[in-house]
Amino acid sequence: MATLAQPSIQFARLAHPAPTAADVREAVLANPGFGTYFTDHMITIDWAEGQGWHNASLGPRGPIALDPAASVLHYAQEIFEGLKAYRLKDGSMALFRPEANAARFNASARRLAMPELPVDVFVSAVRELVGADREWFPSVEGGSLYLRPFMIATEAFLGVRPAKQYKFIVIASPAGNYFKSGAPAVSIWVSDYTRAAPGGTGAAKCGGNYAASLVPTAEAFSRGHDQVLFLDAAEHRWIEELGGMNLFFAFADGSLITPPLTGTILPGITRDSLLSLAREEGLTVREERYSLDQWREDAASGRLIEAFACGTAAVVTPVGKVAGTDGEFVIGSGGPGQLTQKLKARLTAIQRGEEADTHGWVMLLD
Ligand SMILES: Cc1ncc(COP(=O)(O)O)c(C=O)c1O
Repeated sequence: MATLAQPSIQFARLAHPAPTAADVREAVLANPGFGTYFTDHMITIDWAEGQGWHNASLGPRGPIALDPAASVLHYAQEIFEGLKAYRLKDGSMALFRPEANAARFNASARRLAMPELPVDVFVSAVRELVGADREWFPSVEGGSLYLRPFMIATEAFLGVRPAKQYKFIVIASPAGNYFKSGAPAVSIWVSDYTRAAPGGTGAAKCGGNYAASLVPTAEAFSRGHDQVLFLDAAEHRWIEELGGMNLFFAFADGSLITPPLTGTILPGITRDSLLSLAREEGLTVREERYSLDQWREDAASGRLIEAFACGTAAVVTPVGKVAGTDGEFVIGSGGPGQLTQKLKARLTAIQRGEEADTHGWVMLLD
């Protein structure tokens, strides 16, 4: 299990004047959904040129004041992360690989010309918030506390250049199931739109990437699918990722493929964890380009037996059906396959302290 030394920044603790009443909170926690309800507190830290990170506090969650000229409102200088706090079987709480989120946050910061946040400060901020809002842990099966650290450019200036002032914030939301349908396997829509081009911001977790994915995602939903699949920008042939998840393909010969990190897809922490687990399972794992045409052909021939999507929000989710303007095809039986279920079970068992954490991925909070 990972441990943490004293953080390099101290958080002022501001008292909450009116925390949510216990009965209201309990009603939310019995059916939290995803991303709809928020806990009582938030973390904020400011950054200014010449001053660095300062003014760190844990206080009541509430609206933030922004000048109408703040850069984030005009040029979308914003980045974010998504991670979860899990409840272990002994009742204690834990984070899963928070330093990996901190490292990706800083990679996003570099791409968006924003200041990096020391890894220990990122992790302490998340820990402080979970500690303050521990009563917000959902009572539903498989529940977790979803954490959303983000950074915005706050300087009031309309010139197009990196801002000189920023705010880092962490909020939390009790989470149940990500997919509304709760279906055993998801159906995905192959978009004609492009998510990311070589040299662009595809590998960064910046709000702009998600703004651009809203029309394709709405199209997928309106056609009755759960997620959108993006192909590469140059040839519109190679599979990249879903709107909010990475993809894996499992073959009858015991091999597993996932698209490589060439700069246009988000380097998922779930993806990275599954690569390790799959190797431990004895699979031949390759980070390699895979085309939509090949996928269709392999699904028909039986060479491909399973496909699954992965990410923090939905963990590991089987892909049952793929549809696009050229028609549709089904993967395996259309439901969850054995390998998908096994990898999901192993990952969730590690996250919830039911399987030994041999990788140092789990950070205990108590
Ligand atoms: C575009 C995209 N791809 C992949 C992922 C999966 O990343 P992770 O496993 O770190 O949650 C996410 C979620 O953060 C995402 O938004």
